[in-house]
Amino acid sequence: MLGQIKEIKENILADIKKSTNLEEIEERRIKYLSRKGEIPKLFSKMKEIEPSQRKELGLLLNSLKEEALSLINSMRASLETTGSGTEIDLSLPPRKIDLGREHPWQRTRNELASIFKRMGFSIATGPEVETEYYIFDALNMPSWHPARRVSDSLYVDEKRLLRTETSSVQIRTMEKKKPPLRIISPGRVYRNEKENATHMAMFSQCEGLYVDKGVSFAGLKGTLLAFFRTLYGKDTKVRFRPHYFPFTEPSAEADVTCFSCNGKKSDCPICKGTGWIEIGGCGMVNPVVLEGVGIDSEVYTGYAFGLGIERMAMLKYGISDIRMIYENDLRFLEQF
Ligand code: DAH
Repeated sequence: MLGQIKEIKENILADIKKSTNLEEIEERRIKYLSRKGEIPKLFSKMKEIEPSQRKELGLLLNSLKEEALSLINSMRASLETTGSGTEIDLSLPPRKIDLGREHPWQRTRNELASIFKRMGFSIATGPEVETEYYIFDALNMPSWHPARRVSDSLYVDEKRLLRTETSSVQIRTMEKKKPPLRIISPGRVYRNEKENATHMAMFSQCEGLYVDKGVSFAGLKGTLLAFFRTLYGKDTKVRFRPHYFPFTEPSAEADVTCFSCNGKKSDCPICKGTGWIEIGGCGMVNPVVLEGVGIDSEVYTGYAFGLGIERMAMLKYGISDIRMIYENDLRFLEQF
């Protein structure tokens, strides 16, 4: 009799172990452990057995009941946490843990912010939905300026649009604080643009502004040169070409030496054989802009610059298509 019960015990435990989901476990719990289940029924065998063996049978049945219950509970707990009924196989090799990496855009943004911070700039922010005042009027953009057209900019309503440049933050900053001011403002900008390898309707810029007594164009050149040399290496050269922006006078466009061919390939697809890549605009803050925000342009001067963040990332990491930065294809991201 005892031998038989031992066998039954092994069978019951083995059967419980076969459950692969929570329902099966519940079915077996009812089958074996409920009030009229098989295990309680076994207790009735007490009467059939010789009194000398009753104690042993009692112990055996109690241990069966306890083991079945604890097996069911632990299987249920493991299914609830892992979703599988199988016990963890400690002999298996560990799963590869794939660590996330900083996105090349974020990396460039953080790097440029840290370089400018070391040069004494702090970070300023402004809204992405802006009024025409901060994007155009306060920046001395004439009413006929093409950027104001609906074909070039993305309007939200009559007076508000998605900012086309981070230069609006210059105005917001100068309105709030008095010089000396030294800020950068990295952020998104939007234009009604057809997308291709070098243009997107959404991209980002880093605006820079320094206003104080005695700020000069030489200071601007030195700051940008130091910045690009830290970012791209000490042999990097920067070139300033005269240009026009309504909010700076004089204005320039800044180019850096081509990372790809270093000016050595006449058919270089990146610099088109010129050896230079345009990286942003800059200049001395137009006195009209300073006066517009109540800063005395006889006392204070300032310089400003606007750099394309994606362009900087593309140059730094040799990315040939701006769209890759936003597609988030893991095959691309894993290379950084
Ligand atoms: N806002 C200009 C653009 O989006 C870039 C720029 C040029 C910013 C000159 C400046 C600047 O601050 O001084 O094309």
